[in-house]
Amino acid sequence: MKESYITTAIPYVNGNPHLGHVMDYLLADTLRRYMMSKGAKVRFQVGTDEHGNKIYKKAAEAGIDTQEFVDQNAAQFEKFIQSLGVEYTDFIRTTNPDHERRCQEIWKRLGDHIYKDKYEGWYCEGCENFVTDTEHDENDGICPDHKKPYIKLSEENYYLRIADFKDEIRAKIESDEMKITPAFRKKEFLNLLKNMPDVSISRPKSQVAWGIPVPGDEEQVMYVWIDALANYITVLGYPDNDISAYWPANTQIVGKDILRFHAGIWPAILLGLGLPLPKNLLAHGFITVNGEKMSKSIGNVVDPIEILNKHGLVPLRYYFLRHASTTDDSDFTWDKYEAAYNELANDLGNLVQRLATLCKKNGISGRSVIRRDEPEFDAKMEAYEFNFAFDLLWKQIGDLNKRIDSEKPWALAKTEPEKAKAVLESLVDELLTINERLALFIPGTATQIADIFTATEILPPATPLFPKN
Ligand code: MSP
Repeated sequence: MKESYITTAIPYVNGNPHLGHVMDYLLADTLRRYMMSKGAKVRFQVGTDEHGNKIYKKAAEAGIDTQEFVDQNAAQFEKFIQSLGVEYTDFIRTTNPDHERRCQEIWKRLGDHIYKDKYEGWYCEGCENFVTDTEHDENDGICPDHKKPYIKLSEENYYLRIADFKDEIRAKIESDEMKITPAFRKKEFLNLLKNMPDVSISRPKSQVAWGIPVPGDEEQVMYVWIDALANYITVLGYPDNDISAYWPANTQIVGKDILRFHAGIWPAILLGLGLPLPKNLLAHGFITVNGEKMSKSIGNVVDPIEILNKHGLVPLRYYFLRHASTTDDSDFTWDKYEAAYNELANDLGNLVQRLATLCKKNGISGRSVIRRDEPEFDAKMEAYEFNFAFDLLWKQIGDLNKRIDSEKPWALAKTEPEKAKAVLESLVDELLTINERLALFIPGTATQIADIFTATEILPPATPLFPKN
């Protein structure tokens, strides 16, 4: 059986995991659960991007060996991803020796699509980065971060000739052979592609000390993006192994800021290697905090661990999968988070408590799950509109609550006990059916609900699923 493959962006390990990182993982994990519910076997990669100057500098600042620094941070990321209830199959680190060797092999296989050229441009010594003429002019020639004038620098770098593949990439995106979701970002990218220049893919070793050596040139190291993007296939064993069981990936999930690398540079690499392009690229929006971009200088960075510690994992998953959009920017505030928690408690927690209590009183025993097709739900999931699919479930939960209110099984029990029993059984059946899909988003709660209502004796949970503070 052919497996399906889902990937996530690999974060830089120069800092701690932050709130923005949760989207990649939660969306991928939900997609994985959905595909598995349809019978697919899913391979699911996560990992860490561990090369480059920022990381090298951070390690130096901390006074530790660079490899030790990335080892520590990668371990922290791995723990973080697991704490989100995300069940991946592969964890790839770009400092892994197999990855490094495979990247060098990939470089060699790209052959003539790579060329060496001299680059001359504005450079900030503080950022250790080139800036465009536009950026230079906008900042009046002075780096806003380092308050130092940009200098003219010329450097020899290797380039990947994007021009070789532009027409093919455009055609594959336009025909949806590589489908970009949402459609407005596809349009945005196609515009960008027109003027997309060849990209620099190496730096002199003298400038970047922490990177994979360019094969055949001791003076140069790979510098974003080949080393990072290649992770998606090196983790499958490329080029040592045949990867056709997994590649092309079903869906590659990235944030909107890095879509252009995944829609432009990555396809160029793949075409250069003679590999097919991923079937889908999903670009999610950004998480803002109180309507603002999260940033250390504004001081509004929210630590996802703090959110986890507040009410546990389920409310976090609920918030970011239902109240954050899959495709647009979404805001987080603690007030909105509390409101979402109350929804969980009032709509779902109460339903479970009430229904289980009524079942216990009326001697209703556990039921088995009745599965039902839901084309409307599937359509939303397949369009990657996970938050809207989740809304549908929530509406069904609301309808169940209304049915309890209107059908009043507690009153029926006094006059028509058989009818009361039938009503309760049908309510439990419906909840268990909804619960099958809840498991895609909040698996922890779905397991609790299944345990309660399929047990021989239905008993309300000793503590409510979502206790009030
Ligand atoms: N290392 C690169 C990715 C290489 S993939 C071959 C990188 N790392 S990152 O740490 O900056 O970002 C990792 C992921 O988090 C990206 O998908 C990025 O878009 C996402 N996000 C970073 N900040 C975010 C928000 N504030 N909100 C949502 N996602 C955000 O880019």
